[in-house]
Amino acid sequence: MLHLAIILPTLNERENLAPLVERIEGALGPDGWEAIIVDDDSSDGTADEARRLALCDPRIRVLQRIGRRGLASAAIEGMCATAAPFVAVMDADHQHDPALLPAMLAAVESGECDVAVASRFVAGASAAGLEDQRREQGSALANRLARKLTGVELSDPMSGYFLLRTETVRRIAPQLSGIGFKILLDILAASSPPLSVREFALQFAERRAGQSKLDRAVAFEFLIGLYERTFGQLIPTRFALFGTVGALGVGVHMAALALLYVLAGSGFALAQALATFIAMSFNFWLNNWLTYRDQRLTGAGAVLKGWAGFCATCAVGALANVAVATLLQARGVHWALAALAGIVIGAVWNYALSSRFVWGRY
Ligand code: GDD
Ligand code: MN
Repeated sequence: MLHLAIILPTLNERENLAPLVERIEGALGPDGWEAIIVDDDSSDGTADEARRLALCDPRIRVLQRIGRRGLASAAIEGMCATAAPFVAVMDADHQHDPALLPAMLAAVESGECDVAVASRFVAGASAAGLEDQRREQGSALANRLARKLTGVELSDPMSGYFLLRTETVRRIAPQLSGIGFKILLDILAASSPPLSVREFALQFAERRAGQSKLDRAVAFEFLIGLYERTFGQLIPTRFALFGTVGALGVGVHMAALALLYVLAGSGFALAQALATFIAMSFNFWLNNWLTYRDQRLTGAGAVLKGWAGFCATCAVGALANVAVATLLQARGVHWALAALAGIVIGAVWNYALSSRFVWGRY
């Protein structure tokens, strides 16, 4: 009978799959488990490799996500895709030792704890696989902050290797943000009553093949997570990012205008038009890179189309902005307030439209 599902989120892990399945079998024996590979359409053919394995091994399942990105959301979807009563999430790059699975499973199964977490920072563990010292310090800092935020006493809340009852995940799933890679932290923070945790010492190994995908995004995603937890309910994260990019765009606009109008001596109308275009292009680029990094448009065709769409959206937004501001000002509202209202309405408009038509799959 199916007992345990192991969720393996993957992004370019082709070489690592076959040997990992072997190691899982070595730890768990021939049956009672399945491995679900949740691949975000890796360019190295990881999903094909997973299907190749699954063809002759019914314990292997594949979930290929198109146009989606993110370790946390991959883990959530994988966990919700199994009928097994117990589920584990584990990296596919061999940094997490499958040999810990039986002990972790036994602890949750016996009711000793709700969640079994493989920790790099308890006695007997080692974080030697962390590439450099900076990463190690970053990890320690993130852990301290995380502990403060969720109140969960844990040596490694950022661990990507844990096991729990599948029904627990299903209960909490609607509250999970699915952003970034701090999935365990989200699960622990979202659950009331709080979940009890037992930690298992993990020898965090070197990655077997390929390279880490988290390095660059780590700090950023973590900040996003902090924002989500504090202000996310008030102003959605994506809109906040969109607004921040917009504010930076104003700076770019002013700089471009100053260069063109003051220094180069172009006519004001031309300088203003060019600066508007430059600022819109800058905003498109930064939004594509940051705000919609999980739905990033790539390839010349898609980027050009998105760029044109974004400029068109902004043009309409600007019209709405001016119309509202003018109307309010004519009704006797102070000019600064009227302008502000126009800007807010323009921003909401731009956000709503571009999230649908530029980055959405409408
Ligand atoms: N589906 C999917 N989508 N999988 C992803 C994505 C993604 O966007 N990003 C990374 N992965 C997969 C990788 O292929 C790998 O199997 C696993 O998630 C972990 O990614 P790594 O790139 O190897 O992460 P790391 O080793 O740098 O980070 C480790 O430490 C973090 C805390 O410091 C991991 O253990 C993380 O889980 C952990 O949170
Ligand atoms: Mn790794």
